[in-house]
Amino acid sequence: MYLGLDLGTSGIRAVLVDADGRVTAAAEASYGVQHPAPGWSEQDPADWIAGCSEAVAKLREAEPTGFAAIRAIGLAGHMHGATLLDAAGDVLRPCILWNDTRAAAEAADLDAAVDVRALSGNIVFPGFTAPKLRWVETHEPEIFDKIAKVLLPKDYLRFWLTGDYVAEMSDAAGTTWLDVGARAWSDRLLQAGHMRRDQMPDLVEGSSPSDQLRDALRSEWGLDHAVIVAGGGGDNAAAACGVGCLQEGQGFVSLGTSGVLLAARDSFAPEPATAVHTFCHAVPDRWYQMGVILAATDCLNWLARTMDAQAADLAARLPDRVDGPSDLLFLPYLSGERTPHNDAAIRGAFVGLDIGADRNALTAAVMEGVSFALRDSLEALRATGADLSSVLAIGGGTRSRFWLESLATILGLPLRRPADGEFGAALGAARLGMAADGAAIDQIMTPPPVSETIDPRDDLRPAYDAAYARYRSLYPNIKAALT
Ligand code: XUL
Repeated sequence: MYLGLDLGTSGIRAVLVDADGRVTAAAEASYGVQHPAPGWSEQDPADWIAGCSEAVAKLREAEPTGFAAIRAIGLAGHMHGATLLDAAGDVLRPCILWNDTRAAAEAADLDAAVDVRALSGNIVFPGFTAPKLRWVETHEPEIFDKIAKVLLPKDYLRFWLTGDYVAEMSDAAGTTWLDVGARAWSDRLLQAGHMRRDQMPDLVEGSSPSDQLRDALRSEWGLDHAVIVAGGGGDNAAAACGVGCLQEGQGFVSLGTSGVLLAARDSFAPEPATAVHTFCHAVPDRWYQMGVILAATDCLNWLARTMDAQAADLAARLPDRVDGPSDLLFLPYLSGERTPHNDAAIRGAFVGLDIGADRNALTAAVMEGVSFALRDSLEALRATGADLSSVLAIGGGTRSRFWLESLATILGLPLRRPADGEFGAALGAARLGMAADGAAIDQIMTPPPVSETIDPRDDLRPAYDAAYARYRSLYPNIKAALT
């Protein structure tokens, strides 16, 4: 048996997987995000440990025999978070998360430094780890001076599980301290980030063992044999393992809190100017590229909140079939944007509001606006050479047939919707545990069964293309209006 742990932003998900790769039990525990100042987003690492203990206790209760047979654990987690530890391994301050934008000035400064984009393969986005450390250096120097190690969130969970400081390539790629092509810490990038090599954890591949579960936890969890802890992966890399996206041409679109359009790549082909992210995959010798939009279902949730409604109810009022783009346009930049604008200050807009616009009109415009933003990501991915002819569609937003058909038509790509079941980052993490225990990567990291393929509506594509061109023209104007 294998245990997959996905440390998400709002909670942790634990799945138990048998040797055939089938999920036999799943459990969750939730925790909060603190926003002590505008643009700040933090978590207490102690909450991750409490959440992990709770989820594991639930799994043990649900399937005691299966749990007792765990051979390996795989970890996935939200990326880019800065967990700062002193020489005793104690946490120095709350973890600064991926969606925290306080380090925008430090990010711009690092982004302009010589060789930084070329070595890291990416723009230095404010949410990445290195600018956060530069911020701490300036604003909390007494903490900065005590930093003995910096760990990504799931690697702090590993530290608790094993007692060792280890990171893996896919998550390390989001720090701006890793030479993403060479898969090694870069002295030049560490120097640009004012960090030292001894503050970095050791590196392994995600599908390799990192260490073993420590004895005290083994006995607490009733495990009477050695248990491997695999390297694991950042949440998007692990999700790609969960849906079998490893080879060139394979990809997925995710309508989650944030939106992601991801393509697996056989080689390192960065194109930072596109604002596409280029990261190591969680398996050796592979990379992936993705466009990230910061608010996808978050936009629908915002609309629902303002209307005192439930997002699912708003979505359910729309027809299953689309019949052409809305006149109303929506820019989904409620929290700023990464791909393609790299603009932490931009904000969203409705353009073309009519006195007759009702909730359905607003809901449809929000879904279309998010889909146009993902079209921007598709165009950016194409500029890097990534070629996708169809993608899997995952995430909560895919429950809306209207949203899926708009998205398929706006992207001009067939969307394959997986049948109900487990296929996310927690499954990917468990699969990385299986690989670390010796299973063949290509045999276990297979795509999920597909329940339905949603084809683009060819009859409506010209109309949606024209609407996309109108959408594209708005960003510079809204930016100018806001500055
Ligand atoms: C990726 C990113 C998010 C987080 C949280 O660059 O910031 O996907 O990993 O899910």
